[in-house]
Amino acid sequence: MRRKDFLAMNAALLGGLALPLKGRPAASLREIEAAAGSGDEDALWAVLRGQFLLDPDWTYLNFGGLGACPLPVLNSLAEWSRVEERAPSAGHDAKRWNEVKAKLATLLGRSCRMEDLALIGGATEGVNMILNGLPLKKGDEVITSTHEHVAVHTALLNRMHKDGIVIRLFEPDIFSGRGNVDRIARLVNGRTRLIFISHVTCTTGQRFPEREISELARSRGIWFALDGAQAPVNVLFDIVDCGVDFYTCSAHKWMMGPKRTGFLYVRQGMLEALRPHATGGGSAERYDIETNEIVFYPTAQRYEYGTQNDALFYALGTAVDFVNAVGVERIWNRGRAMAERFYRGLRQIPDVDSVSPREEAWRSCMIGFRMKTHDFGAVNAHLAKDKIRVRPVSEGKLNAIRVSFFLNNRMEDVDKILDSLKKLAG
Ligand SMILES: Cc1ncc(COP(=O)(O)O)c(C=O)c1O
Repeated sequence: MRRKDFLAMNAALLGGLALPLKGRPAASLREIEAAAGSGDEDALWAVLRGQFLLDPDWTYLNFGGLGACPLPVLNSLAEWSRVEERAPSAGHDAKRWNEVKAKLATLLGRSCRMEDLALIGGATEGVNMILNGLPLKKGDEVITSTHEHVAVHTALLNRMHKDGIVIRLFEPDIFSGRGNVDRIARLVNGRTRLIFISHVTCTTGQRFPEREISELARSRGIWFALDGAQAPVNVLFDIVDCGVDFYTCSAHKWMMGPKRTGFLYVRQGMLEALRPHATGGGSAERYDIETNEIVFYPTAQRYEYGTQNDALFYALGTAVDFVNAVGVERIWNRGRAMAERFYRGLRQIPDVDSVSPREEAWRSCMIGFRMKTHDFGAVNAHLAKDKIRVRPVSEGKLNAIRVSFFLNNRMEDVDKILDSLKKLAG
């Protein structure tokens, strides 16, 4: 690409990504910041809702399943894809790539460094990198919960069948956060090498007490990994303060990044413990097949490999800008207010039980419930007839429904799903 075109495109992007997509105007980041600063909450949420292409006939309550990109992110993706296609080149602009990591690091924690992050395709990839990169051998025990996503359970089973590791399971305590630390502690013994659980479960939206678990792990010399697919922007936390050794996330959910974007975080000082599971162009600072030498990058870049779709990650940078323009705390407060209204509303419906934590501190913007009178398939089908999109939960034999509340939603959506459930309950 000619330098002039490149600069012009940069100006368009930095100027606010205001290019229309299919005739719909994208708000510029500056406009979003202005709406966020206006003090008019209703106006802000209306602007934000207008940024999604979500089908207006449906009430989308499933950002925990798959997020939607707002228009500025879609525009950024389209523009950067065009840039790529005009002058295809292998490798990527390290400066721009690292800028995305730097933005992400700032979102994730006060002392998180871009060097601690690798840009990857999502939590499934990250989970496999962690489970296959740690030197686990036959008889080594890994503690996990019955509520983990298929990504964690299948990767564990794979390692079990391949290398003979032992999986130790606990049932999450939904009554007390502390109860989970005790349940994990009871499983720890001299063969325990790793605790690998969700930060926020995909089943009930339960947040585990990450700091207490990390203290337990540290005190017993055990690695601690979190599957954070459901956490960033859904709950507030500081990744470094968590004390977690390894953390992975899909950015195409609550972070609103393009599909197949995510990250792997490796705590400072832990690079040598986690061997790169997949390697290729970009992983090693130098290598020599004649002398057998390989020196991986001294940062989490060592976990990146091969040709990347740069546009995806540059657009992820725009998604982080979008989150920051609104304010992550504000998004959280809004989502939690809707989730709490729903949680309280469930209590008024006969034969409905919430399966989300009883202690508010461990609830997130996702709430799970089940009906004594109908199985989850029937509840899901009923809600779909009312054009309400939720996520049936079969994990842990829960027979439940999970509902996510996010910045595309409004209070009326909470009432709509509650009314629909009341109808079903008769
Ligand atoms: C807790 C959890 N882990 C892992 C995943 C897998 O994410 P992906 O399919 O984006 O890799 C999900 C997806 O829903 C999830 O909820």
